[in-house]
Amino acid sequence: MNPMQTEILEITSKSSHPIFIGTQILDDIPAYIQKEIKAEKVVIITNTNLIDAFGNVLKKGIESKKIHCTIIDIPSGEEQKTFQTVSQILNQLLTLKLERNDCIIALGGGVIGDLAGFIASIYLRGIPLIQVPTTLLAQVDASIGGKTGVNHPKGKNLIGTFYQAKAIFIDTATLHLLPKRELRAGLAEIAKYAITLNTPLFHYMTKHLKEIIKFSPSQSQEIWQHMIKESVKNKVSIVSEDEKESGKRAILNFGHTIGHGVEAATNFKTFLHGEAVAIGMLIETEIAEKLSLISNEEAKKIKGFLNSLSYEETNLHATPEKIIEKMQMDKKVKSGKLHYVLPTEIGKTIISNQVSIDIVKELLAKYCSDATL
Ligand SMILES: NC(=O)c1ccc[n+]([C@@H]2O[C@H](COP(=O)([O-])OP(=O)(O)OC[C@H]3O[C@@H](n4cnc5c(N)ncnc54)[C@H](O)[C@@H]3O)[C@@H](O)[C@H]2O)c1
Ligand SMILES: [Zn+2]
Repeated sequence: MNPMQTEILEITSKSSHPIFIGTQILDDIPAYIQKEIKAEKVVIITNTNLIDAFGNVLKKGIESKKIHCTIIDIPSGEEQKTFQTVSQILNQLLTLKLERNDCIIALGGGVIGDLAGFIASIYLRGIPLIQVPTTLLAQVDASIGGKTGVNHPKGKNLIGTFYQAKAIFIDTATLHLLPKRELRAGLAEIAKYAITLNTPLFHYMTKHLKEIIKFSPSQSQEIWQHMIKESVKNKVSIVSEDEKESGKRAILNFGHTIGHGVEAATNFKTFLHGEAVAIGMLIETEIAEKLSLISNEEAKKIKGFLNSLSYEETNLHATPEKIIEKMQMDKKVKSGKLHYVLPTEIGKTIISNQVSIDIVKELLAKYCSDATL
């Protein structure tokens, strides 16, 4: 591996595994499988649209090590993240006679990561998994932490497992093909780490704003790699302390209490997850301000930061009542109480279950100009 381009972060949870971050590091995966996993067969699970750009090259590299490799592809989209897809892929794995020391590679965004991770965790009671996230959201969030799962008609991500990958390869060069809207949505999760946990990252992003909002990782490679590395470090450190999401990991839900409500109230069709989280972070900052948990000056900085990342949004396409109804149905609601992660200053938050519905309704209303839907 090229030490100039690759940084290795070591996760310190029970199931310690390396995270490789760099450019063009997909080329390093075949040697890793040969040396560390010693698999005889590898299955790459990916989206159909990623085969030409990444899947075939990876397959060729693996085959050059005399390892049998098959690509299983599915169309893009959240609607693929179902038991039915899992069942179809399990059938294919059984037909291929994949054995317990063989290996599954999840090559794609969070949908592929969640789906392939879930499959790897239940096939033969668990076989080695390598995560190769190719969206920004998956690189800084979904691929790290071991959460896998599928959706159920009763809700998103209701069925799943905690299952750690053997290794995670974050190749930032894959982002060069990612549409701007997906980059912007993934950037919201980076902004989340900056606001809640990483003041230096907040300042770094403020300093490099002009380049960031060009949304061109190929032009400003160093900046994007820095933001990704910092985010991965934050997620790794939280997850290492709280692998099963009992306490500290809750900080990562900043923007998500409202964000999930917004996504669900618009049937997951209007906003990408990160877009809904961005508006959630804005409104949750306003809640903190209203409750005098943060100074107006500090809140202004956070809101200004989010707006300058181009997240200004004035139309949530749903009524405040509908959004609140959906928030209360979220699986993270404990004993009927909504929990909010509220910033108290840049880099610091508190978690509160004491926010009155009236305040939330009032603040949401400002963003619900088209509330007749
Ligand atoms: N497990 C977790 O901890 C966790 C955390 C956050 C989100 N998630 C899950 O992640 C999913 C969302 O993930 P996502 O935002 O990555 O969406 P996604 O997986 O649907 O990918 C978005 C689109 O980008 C395409 N794509 C992927 N990589 C590309 C590339 N390099 N170039 C061009 N196109 C590319 C995909 O084919 C797809 O069309 C949701 O299902 C969510 O529940 C999981
Ligand atoms: Zn999120």
